[in-house]
Amino acid sequence: MAAITPGMTVGDIVVTEINKLTSVADIVKACPTARRVFDKYGLKGCGGEHGPTETLAFFAAVHKVDVDALVRELNAEMRNPSNEEYVYKESLGDFIYRRFFKAGIAIVLSVGALWGAINLLQIAQGGTFLQVHLVPAIQAHAHAMIFGWMGLFVMGFAYQSFPRFKYVTLWRADLANLTWYLMLIGIASRVAAEMLQPMPVGVGLGILAAATELAAITMFIIIILKTAQQSVEPHNTYEKFIFGAFSWFFMQAIVSDILFFAKVTAVGVDQLVMRIALIDGPLRDIQLLGFGALIIAGVSQRFVPVVYGLGNPRHDRQSLIFWLINGSLILDVATYVLLFSTGNLYFSMGLELAFILMAVWAVLLVMQLRVFAKTSETDRSLKFIRAAYAWLLVSMAMLPFFPVYGVLTHQGFSHAFMGSYRHAYTVGFVSMMILGVASRVVPILAGVDSKRSSSLWGPFIFLNVGCGGRVVLQILTDFFPSVAFPLVGVTGFIEVTALGWWGVELWHTMNLSRTNRAQLLRAPLPLAAR
Ligand code: HEM
Repeated sequence: MAAITPGMTVGDIVVTEINKLTSVADIVKACPTARRVFDKYGLKGCGGEHGPTETLAFFAAVHKVDVDALVRELNAEMRNPSNEEYVYKESLGDFIYRRFFKAGIAIVLSVGALWGAINLLQIAQGGTFLQVHLVPAIQAHAHAMIFGWMGLFVMGFAYQSFPRFKYVTLWRADLANLTWYLMLIGIASRVAAEMLQPMPVGVGLGILAAATELAAITMFIIIILKTAQQSVEPHNTYEKFIFGAFSWFFMQAIVSDILFFAKVTAVGVDQLVMRIALIDGPLRDIQLLGFGALIIAGVSQRFVPVVYGLGNPRHDRQSLIFWLINGSLILDVATYVLLFSTGNLYFSMGLELAFILMAVWAVLLVMQLRVFAKTSETDRSLKFIRAAYAWLLVSMAMLPFFPVYGVLTHQGFSHAFMGSYRHAYTVGFVSMMILGVASRVVPILAGVDSKRSSSLWGPFIFLNVGCGGRVVLQILTDFFPSVAFPLVGVTGFIEVTALGWWGVELWHTMNLSRTNRAQLLRAPLPLAAR
């Protein structure tokens, strides 16, 4: 527990002084009306009834408040508390993130990673990645992962943190709640539609999925925009990344539906394969290198340096990184489509340039965040964040070699290399980042001291071993198929174990905040400890 200064006591003894190292929970306990001051700067329901166990300095850094002014304001409130009693009341906007995070965990452990692991086992048994009968299941897995894992975590996190960072309240929490239902209906329908198409019931479910997912994503963006409009705070550069990511989020939903209807209307296997080959690559790049890259880069810039005390970079290259992420993606998609439709190899140079630019933004982003520099704060989540950025560098270093590898191995397009790169990105970078951010944020929101929680070394090691194994072994299937295929088949289950281990811990922590709430609702509200 954070330090309480000499002379300051909590509960039945009088508190005389608050300093930067006093925990928010101790302050709220000693002076319940101080909560009003915290709410003004975005605390709201964070940490439940008792507030988070983090220090005042941490709260001030994360919420970008002048800590000395805050210490003065809180001491003034403590010396002269307002007469009006503060009654803590949790609203939907305070706990809505929990249902998004829980649904994300449920999806990753069922139709997401678990199904992916089963697909991988079938690929290993068949001794080839090119099994047409597995395509619907793999596409269903990919959809569940993008919309249900990445999408739900991003929505839950945005609903929770964005209003707090802008010192406002979430606009229309009831509509935000509706987007949760719409997303779940959409994901379930699309997964079923992938398996049942081209039967009419499959097409019908695909239409339902398209309508509900598009409605949910559109409403989500409007809710966040309306929330931002209420704020008088100046705009920050990281917001450009967030809204850029949301634009790609919307765009990918449309392209994903185009792919679905292109598949169900294809005549014959040849046309089906050609249509998937044309649309699938750009779709995955929009999802991962547009939506995924921009949201992680934006959240990281707002979150990583302040949470771990990394300080500012020597050169601020936020705008350059933003334009490189968007520009390289547009170049990648345009040159890929032109190369595919004209067969003119001239366009492959544009594609290669796009891959090089992607490696450049990855390096610049790591430099911007200084994520491998010495930190002044440490926590169980830091290893996940650092590993995520190490995986980003690995995956982006692989990408420019993709064409060269294809030529050297006389394949043109190496499915194994592309799959290996993509896994390094989706699991190593994106998923590792979700695990890291969630394991830092959820204990704070639940009012639990993360230093006393599990260190999460187990899930961390398993996820890295599983992901490393998959990345290396998938490439080795090109050279030593009889050895590499049986081994790669196991890696998926190592990753599912990691995700399950982490997911159970996170779920439990989220329930703790609910339990606290329930206990407090049963017990008489504690009166001000003054
Ligand atoms: C954690 C364990 C995971 C396992 C075992 C797994 C398994 C698989 C397998 C076997 C494939 C087909 C491989 C290939 O064709 O090269 C695949 C493809 C894919 N996966 Fe995963 N995956 C996992 C995690 C993820 C995550 C976290 C994401 C997204 C965030 C993701 C998104 C995708 C995408 C986009 C594809 C490509 C589908 C396509 O060809 O269009 N996967 N996955």
